[in-house]
Order: sequence, then structure tokens, then C-alpha cells
Amino acid sequence: MDNFTFLNPTKLVFGKGQLDQLTKEISRYGKKVLLVYGGGSIKRSGLYDDVQKLLAEMGATVFELSGVEPNPRLSTANKGIKICKEEGVEFILAVGGGSVIDCTKLIAAGAKYDGDAWDIVTKKVFAKEALPFGTVLTLAATGSEMNSGSVITNWETKEKHGWGSPVTFPKFSILDPVHTFSVPKNQTIYGIVDMMSHVLEHYFHQAEMTEFQDRMCEGLLLTVMETAPKLLDDLENYDHRATILYCGTMALNGMLSMGFRGDWATHNIEHAVSAVYDIPHGGGLAILFPNWMKHNLHVKPERFKKLAVRVFGVTSDGKNDEEIGMEGIEKLREFWNSIGAPSRLADYDIDDSQLEVMADKAMVNGEFGNFTKLNKEDVLKIYQMSL
Ligand code: NZQ
Ligand code: ZN
Repeated sequence: MDNFTFLNPTKLVFGKGQLDQLTKEISRYGKKVLLVYGGGSIKRSGLYDDVQKLLAEMGATVFELSGVEPNPRLSTANKGIKICKEEGVEFILAVGGGSVIDCTKLIAAGAKYDGDAWDIVTKKVFAKEALPFGTVLTLAATGSEMNSGSVITNWETKEKHGWGSPVTFPKFSILDPVHTFSVPKNQTIYGIVDMMSHVLEHYFHQAEMTEFQDRMCEGLLLTVMETAPKLLDDLENYDHRATILYCGTMALNGMLSMGFRGDWATHNIEHAVSAVYDIPHGGGLAILFPNWMKHNLHVKPERFKKLAVRVFGVTSDGKNDEEIGMEGIEKLREFWNSIGAPSRLADYDIDDSQLEVMADKAMVNGEFGNFTKLNKEDVLKIYQMSL
């Protein structure tokens, strides 16, 4: 296990009816509030009205930024930054999924920066300050509600990058499973794939003796795989929504990854695909992750074997580590197929015409991946395997 320091300052408020905590939490920071949300799901579910009522009760002056896109765009964050600067906003409230929260993080940091917010995303400057913000999560997937990361797309240049800073942890996040009841089946599936992929990104590392971390990762994967089919049959089941919501947060809030550096190459490869084709992040991961695994099985077959045996119930008798590992990868693919996740780029009508373009985008900062380094040839191979 490597040395580590752990700090996660986000206050997590979890459970039925917890939205009522909103006013108490916000009033610590101010009354001029920018409310950020997406394309309208919160209006349809009634959450928008509930939030506005609570903000009115606390006497807040509310400004709004609506229409945050899935795969949130720089241009939208810039609108929010302008409102914050012009109106002297004191607190930002994100109500939505990962995209709304990620956009809010850039607004929060951009409001305290005089230059172009894209400098922050491209890491030309490091965000040292940010407006305080909180979240009301409506979709279990990214973990953005309890981490400092944000992924932003510049649609003009077709670039999508992740960034983060210690100042971009939410002050609080309210997670009521009921707020996720209205998430449609397809988005529920993408969320399940995304959180499982976060665990897999953690699982493939080069540190030795991470027994407890491995068990936590395996436990989370097993729990999600056990719960997902039941939830997909009963989308308004509180207990299943709660389990998946909690798993999504735990999968990427730093709890699973103390003492090692996870791989994260597949996320980079996927971001290059969604930068060009604007596909759902979880859909892209479902297509690419098993192929990243097949491509890199030879690097440390015993790691793949451990996953195959402990999570996918593969028996080891008479087989070598690579054969066992490969069976595990096939079982992951089968599981994602069984819940209705996509398995080929063709499922999104993506052919081989932009593979070079996507590979160049993935390679923008040179070779990447912490389990094993990928070069352009590797990336192209994985895209080709995914057609
Ligand atoms: O925009 P609205 O109308 O709200 O609809 C959204 C959107 O169309 C809908 N939705 C959300 N909650 C709903 C709902 N529909 C009905 N009922 C509800 N309760 O779902 C659609 C997708 O929402 P989005 O926020 O885009 O999904 P997700 O949470 O999966 O976020 C995806 C984004 O997060 C980034 C991805 O790259 C992508 O841009 N990621 C962020 C990470 C982070 N900050 O740590 C890590 C991840 O790996 C990921 O890269
Ligand atoms: Zn992800």
C-alpha cells in the first residue's frame, strides 16, 4: 500500500425527506443563491417547486441557470459565471445529476477567476478559490456529489476534460432516493455502468497488499450487480434506489482508493468518444471497458483472476490466470448486456471514420493510465475492438 492522506469535506445528508435540511445548510453561506439545473426533469418531478419553496422560506434571492446539458458545456458554465459576477452570488445550488454538478463546480471556480474558465479545465491555471456550493442529487452515477472532480466539454473545439481542486468539493449534498425515482431506465443503466466502472478503474493498479481496498471494491461491485436487475424491474423501489444511490457515491468519493492510484485510462478513452459524438458517458464505458481489459489482461493476469473469481464466481480449476481473467471479462460483458447496456460503438452509429481523431484527443497529454501506459496504437486497438 502506498502512503496517503485522506480528506473529504463534503457533508452527506442521506434519506427520505432530507430536502428539508436545505435551508439550514445554505443559510451558513448567504442568501444570494444561483440555482443550477438541467433540461427540465426537476420541473416534471416537482423537485423544482419544492426547492423554490424552501429558498423562499429562507428569504433567499434566487437567480437561475437552467438547461445544463448532459456532458455539460463550457458555454453554459460561462453563463453561470457571468451571473455570479454581475449579481454577487454568495452560494450556488446544483439540483440534478453529474452534469449539473460538474457545471456548477466550474461556475464556482470561474466566479473567482478573472480569465477564461477554460484555463481551469485545461489546467493552465489551478483553481485556488471557489464560491461555496451544495447539491441536491437526482441521479446515481458519477459520485460528483461527494468529490472535487468536474468534466466539461468545449463543444466548439470538441474537447472534453476532467479537472478538480480541493476547493471544488460540495459543502453538502442531499441524497434522497425518492428524487431518483423518475430517472428513466436507460439513464439508470448508464449510472450503474458508470459506478461499476469507477470501481474497476480503482481495482486495476500496481500497488501491492491492498487487501481491504480490494474487498471494499469487490463488495461494492457485488452489491450493485445484485441490486441492479431488481431495481430495473421496479424503478420506484425505495430500497433498491437507496442502495444504488449510496453505492454511486461511495464508488468515487475517495473511500475506495486510499493507498494506490487507480488506472483511469478507460475514462480518458471514453471522454474522447463523447467529446466527438456526445454519447452518454455510461454507455461509452459499457462498450469500452471490457475491451480495455482484454487488451491489458497480459499486464498482470493475477489481478484479473482475482476479480473473476471473487466477483464473477469463475472457478479456477485447471485453467491459467489469463484464462480465468478472460472468463471474468466475458462475465462482466454478459452482465452489462443482461441489464441492457450497449456493447458496440455501432449501437450509437459510430463507425471507424473518426477513430484517429478520437485517439488524438485521448493522447492530448501523452501516454496515460496508471495500471499500464497506453500509447496511440493501444487506444486505436481498443476503439477497433469496440466497433
Ligand atoms: O437535464 P435533465 O432534464 O435534468 O435530465 C437529465 C439528463 O438528461 C436526466 N435526469 C437526471 N436526473 C433525473 C433525470 N431524469 C429524470 N429524473 C431524474 N431524477 O438524466 C440525463 C443525464 O444526466 P447527467 O447529469 O448528464 O448524467 P450523469 O449523472 O451520468 O452525469 C454525466 C456527466 O458526468 C461526467 C460525465 O463525463 C458526464 O459529462 N462525469 C463526472 C464525474 C465526476 N465529476 O466525478 C466522473 C464520471 O466518471 C463522469 O466522467
Ligand atoms: Zn465515470
